[in-house]
Amino acid sequence: MTRLARQHGAINLAQGFTDEPPPFPLVWGAITALLGGSDAGIRRLEQFPTTGPAGLAAGDVPVSLRDALESLQGRRDELNQYSYPFGLLELRRAIADYTDRCSGFAPDPETETTVVLGSTEGLAAVLAALGRRGDGVVVLEPFHEMYPAQAEVFGLEPRFVTLREEAGGTGWGLDPDELRRAAAAATLLVLNTPHNPTGKVFAPDDLETIAEVARSEDLVVVADEIYEHIVFDGARHRSIATWPDMRERTVVVNSISKTANATGWRIGWVLAPPHLTPAIRAVHDTLVVQAPTPLQKAAVGLLGMPPTFFRELARGYADKRAVLGDALRAAGFRMTEPSGAYYFLADYRGVRDLGRLDPLAAAMHLIEQVGVAAVPGDNFYGRSKEGERYLRFAFCRSRETLAAAAGRLICLAPAG
Ligand SMILES: Cc1ncc(COP(=O)(O)O)c(C=O)c1O
Repeated sequence: MTRLARQHGAINLAQGFTDEPPPFPLVWGAITALLGGSDAGIRRLEQFPTTGPAGLAAGDVPVSLRDALESLQGRRDELNQYSYPFGLLELRRAIADYTDRCSGFAPDPETETTVVLGSTEGLAAVLAALGRRGDGVVVLEPFHEMYPAQAEVFGLEPRFVTLREEAGGTGWGLDPDELRRAAAAATLLVLNTPHNPTGKVFAPDDLETIAEVARSEDLVVVADEIYEHIVFDGARHRSIATWPDMRERTVVVNSISKTANATGWRIGWVLAPPHLTPAIRAVHDTLVVQAPTPLQKAAVGLLGMPPTFFRELARGYADKRAVLGDALRAAGFRMTEPSGAYYFLADYRGVRDLGRLDPLAAAMHLIEQVGVAAVPGDNFYGRSKEGERYLRFAFCRSRETLAAAAGRLICLAPAG
């Protein structure tokens, strides 16, 4: 009814939301959180005096930023209210253009693009919509914890395929036969590239193997591409949706979380072919209605940023990778250099004080004795014991934080 009311210019007495703005303290709280970024930043803004925009303040008498903004609050409100469950059309169009520019295919904003609460909710809606209780879901391990956890929530059965670190730290290999065996009893396959936690950027050969298995076993591939811009050393992210005949069997989940340093905003999207979209939208609408309207409006601006912005993203992370990577290697960790995302899955067996410990004990030693937190590697594996040699370190923190961590990790380095 709201949609039709807009279309026909009708006065909307159908849906339960107002056309008046929320109380100013609420909006001010959001502005100071967004702009200040921390409690200290909020205090700075609260104390900020300004002479106010022209015509607002009397003469040169300073007014606070808060008072100046309060006097500017709009009277008629749309953007703090419910909006179309599948996302503002403006944002869905921006997502379609962005995907066309960055990934080389253009989803239809009306029938293929749904705005969700981050890729986490996107994946949940996809698994709930497309999986039937007891269906197998191929999950490559090591994995992001949410893949098998969500599969289990929806009564699906994870079928693990293990990526193996190649000798000499040259990459992470996918065994096509193991993949075929797992796929034979599955209907869905979750692919994450660039990959957390290994940093693998799936090469054309890998994608061809996965596509061939998906076609022959009639699988839908759910491609989690949230690290799409974070690639190093000439690696190139490719979406499996662009592979021959894969568009109609690929669902991409993505978000602004990693691209915009905005993990707390919970703005993401699902790109699915028209025959799969309605079921996904039905789950999304039923469970969460929509992603926050004002933040959707803001995301339009992000996706329209020039290509240089997205390209520059990786450069900053490459420097950070070097800072933490050098420190870990000096401490005795061994790892395959990640080609994408922002993690080291580091083999700690050669580290003096950690080598004999199991992953949880090693992580506890690091926290308690060294003052650095990492995730035990077995957390990322469901079947194989390979994870028992790894700890995962994130290098997405600020350079100062990483330098401080490096300073602490030195105490693990062999004497002399
Ligand atoms: C591979 C992967 N997928 C999804 C997520 C969660 O993304 P979002 O914030 O979009 O829900 C993460 C977060 O770390 C991740 O590493």
